[in-house]
Amino acid sequence: MRILITGGAGCLGSNLVEEYLPQGHEILVLDNFATGGREVLPTLPRLEIVDGTIADRNLVESVFARFAPTHVIHSAASYKDPSDWREDAATNVAGTINLVEAARRAAVKRFVYFQTALCYGRPDRMPIPVDHPTRPFTSYGISKTAGEAYVALSDLSWISLRLANITGPRLAIGPIPTFYKRLKAGQNCFCTDTVRDFLDMSDFLELMRIALRDDAPTGIFNVSTGAGHSIAEVFETVSARLGISPVEPVSVVPPNADDVPAVVLDPSHTHQVLGWTAKLGLRESVGRMIDWYDSHGVSAIHSHLRPVPADQR
Ligand SMILES: NC(=O)c1ccc[n+]([C@@H]2O[C@H](COP(=O)([O-])OP(=O)(O)OC[C@H]3O[C@@H](n4cnc5c(N)ncnc54)[C@H](O)[C@@H]3O)[C@@H](O)[C@H]2O)c1
Repeated sequence: MRILITGGAGCLGSNLVEEYLPQGHEILVLDNFATGGREVLPTLPRLEIVDGTIADRNLVESVFARFAPTHVIHSAASYKDPSDWREDAATNVAGTINLVEAARRAAVKRFVYFQTALCYGRPDRMPIPVDHPTRPFTSYGISKTAGEAYVALSDLSWISLRLANITGPRLAIGPIPTFYKRLKAGQNCFCTDTVRDFLDMSDFLELMRIALRDDAPTGIFNVSTGAGHSIAEVFETVSARLGISPVEPVSVVPPNADDVPAVVLDPSHTHQVLGWTAKLGLRESVGRMIDWYDSHGVSAIHSHLRPVPADQR
């Protein structure tokens, strides 16, 4: 395959590069390094790295003309400044349209999109079935949901994976790297009073083997274990695994206005249609993450949420 991976220097993208390069595929990464790092990608003849934004239509078209991808994995996303609606719209909406149009012209065999669970907004039901209405209310959620809608509007062979919180090498978002870093530094931690689902990178990569097949079903799929865990439970799992007790009791604070109390995706449709089920649970994933941070360290941590005010921690 000739695989174009947008956002290939990010957490998911770079794990996919690591997965696909040894299999002999040709890969082009298009990334503006807003949250990803060039240093995570190896220098190898079958990997081309283009530094630029998917919002640049001419650049996207020239990449397609030159590289002629057979498969597109669209992993690039803007989220790091919740107030920067224009950047979110430029990348997540206009950038996605640029890719969809170029992919149609190039007759790519498969187009894979990654969607945030924030597309469901504040859900009515838990776990959230894949046919639950979308009601995003943050700039990231709104723009990613519009991007997904343009992918679905196309006549491409497309699949959109609505992802739980994926844990794996280079994870730099969410409670696991945050607790690891603060506990190791002897700093206090706080937990938001929220529930999330987590998915190990190995389970995500297993699903991607199915998603990228030319004959795989198209459409939208929830990708999750289906098991929810409170952030306090995540904290306990990380601190127990590290063998570090917090300096002071850990406070549990209410979620911010832009946060959602509970997000747990129901993967049953994915299991029925794609025949995929997650194998690892939170404890195993946290163990793998801690082993990875112990040998590689934690990078800068990004978030699509506004920080919890200091007087509420
Ligand atoms: N990791 C998860 O648990 C998770 C959960 C739900 C959805 N997703 C989705 O999966 C995708 C990958 O997420 P991730 O965790 O790897 O994030 P990430 O921040 O590590 O990777 C995103 C990459 O996109 C790049 N990028 C940003 N704007 C760009 C632009 N305009 N042009 C080109 N590249 C650009 C960044 O530099 C980065 O390398 C995103 O689309 C995200 O919305 C991830």
